Amino acid sequence: MCISHNPSETQALGEVWGREAQSGWVIGLCGQLGAGKTQLVMGLARGLGSPARVHSPTFALVNVYTGGRLALFHLDLYRLDTLEQIVAAGLEEYLWPAGVTVVEWADKWPDVVQSLKCLRWVQIETLGENERRIIYDDFGH
Ligand SMILES: Nc1ncnc2c1ncn2[C@@H]1O[C@H](COP(=O)(O)OP(=O)(O)OP(=O)(O)O)[C@@H](O)[C@H]1O
Ligand SMILES: [Mg+2]
Repeated sequence: MCISHNPSETQALGEVWGREAQSGWVIGLCGQLGAGKTQLVMGLARGLGSPARVHSPTFALVNVYTGGRLALFHLDLYRLDTLEQIVAAGLEEYLWPAGVTVVEWADKWPDVVQSLKCLRWVQIETLGENERRIIYDDFGH
């Protein structure tokens, strides 16, 4: 558990994770609109050494950031409502990544994501305008 006081602190946490990430990791991010999920992904990309510009893959559903130590697959389930839609969108292949997968709105996909072997499950709570509580649990690392 940690408290972030501004976007840079959230990015810095993601950066640490990016530096320690291993191939096959899946990171699930939960938290309301504006919680800071994408800020964490920006840090992840930086920690992996990718110079790519991070933005939510709202229409494409998946962005791939290359140029770093490992590829980073960035999924956002915001626009998907059912497991059928997630599967139909072909997203299951990203659960066993040749690189690292990070999923925004991961709580929309609980059964599949929580049964994974290498998972960091992250919850970001908005406490105030700039304050966030970030809780995470690792499974199978
Ligand atoms: N401590 C903090 N950590 C992260 N973001 C913060 C923090 N304090 C303020 N913010 C602001 O909150 C917003 C977080 O936006 P971000 O796009 O990362 O959220 P999100 O969880 O990805 O939302 P969405 O569900 O819309 O994708 C940014 O505008 C950021 O500047
Ligand atoms: Mg986002």
